[in-house]
Amino acid sequence: MPSLFESFTIKGLQVKNRIVMSPMCQYLANGDGTITDWHFVHYGARAAGGVGLIIVEASGVENRGRITDRDIGLYSDEHIPGLQRLVDYCHTFGSKVGIQLAHAGRKSEVVEEANVAPSAIPFSEKYRTPHELTTDEIQKIVEAFGQAARRAVAAGFDTVEIHGAHGYLIHEFLSPYSNRRTDEYGGSQANRMRFAMDVIRRVKREIPEDMPLLMRVSASEYEAAGYTPDEMAEMVKQFKEAGVDMMDVSSGGNYPIPPTHYPGYQVKFADQVRRAAELPVIAVGRLDSPQLAEEVVRNQRADLVAVGRGLLRDPHWAKSAAVALGNDLEMPGVYKMGY
Ligand SMILES: Cc1cc2nc3c(=O)[nH]c(=O)nc-3n(C[C@H](O)[C@H](O)[C@H](O)COP(=O)(O)O)c2cc1C
Repeated sequence: MPSLFESFTIKGLQVKNRIVMSPMCQYLANGDGTITDWHFVHYGARAAGGVGLIIVEASGVENRGRITDRDIGLYSDEHIPGLQRLVDYCHTFGSKVGIQLAHAGRKSEVVEEANVAPSAIPFSEKYRTPHELTTDEIQKIVEAFGQAARRAVAAGFDTVEIHGAHGYLIHEFLSPYSNRRTDEYGGSQANRMRFAMDVIRRVKREIPEDMPLLMRVSASEYEAAGYTPDEMAEMVKQFKEAGVDMMDVSSGGNYPIPPTHYPGYQVKFADQVRRAAELPVIAVGRLDSPQLAEEVVRNQRADLVAVGRGLLRDPHWAKSAAVALGNDLEMPGVYKMGY
């Protein structure tokens, strides 16, 4: 029976425990998308605190694909050296490190750029009306995902995660709520999935054979005009066919009213995807009670557990959970003396 502090292997990636640091934008990158000292402190502390797999925050595959002007970029080779140093540093603590490849689409707030989306529908009245992408422009963004994946590999990341959730560009295409196109990228489910499938296949070409490809999706849109969890489970089967090795299952974000949050509120979606598509999954969403995290892994409702805000509060959340559950987790240097 797997447990939270048991190692996990997928393809060439070996993670020392089942704890994932959920990707969380820090909005503290330089304006040009390069990382700052903050990122060394932030990610380094969680690596020192025992996290098995760190997924670095949503990083824009284009400048206009960043959520804000202070997000990390992966749209230039200039972004590689800083990230490479960050990955090397986290590796010294035994953590594995991935990065989330993202395009914010109609939810971008980058000041000097226009927003883009499948259809010219703003996210809410507070957002700009996006430009409806042409098929040629769509292909250029697919290529940008590929180039970003190449840079992630060059920076030494152990895995990459395609951000297909939270109402950002890929999710916008998947959803009939935000995608009203009448060409081959809109209409039927197969057409709405086409952009995601193109991105998966393009990214796959850039990463080594033994590197697992992760993808985050929103399993529920909490909106009648959107897709359902059952439809997402069906879509995941095809993402798997196209090359996704593990799903990170979140929800919401494409509709301005957020859902009700309670401990483990998204686990049922992770469980559904895991069983329907028969691939490993990461569960996320208020799983920062160690007992709940352990329950999710032991009952095989998910293979890994991602913690977001719990790790903002406590960089040593993994060690705190190990203490609470009576497990060993080695801390670096004199930090051992703290326990
Ligand atoms: C400050 C902050 C930034 C976030 N940025 C991202 C992000 O870059 N990519 C993403 O997929 N989710 C992002 N999220 C969502 C988290 O990864 C996570 O799914 C969510 O917070 C639920 O997990 P939690 O209850 O453990 O915090 C962010 C959440 C927070 C609080």
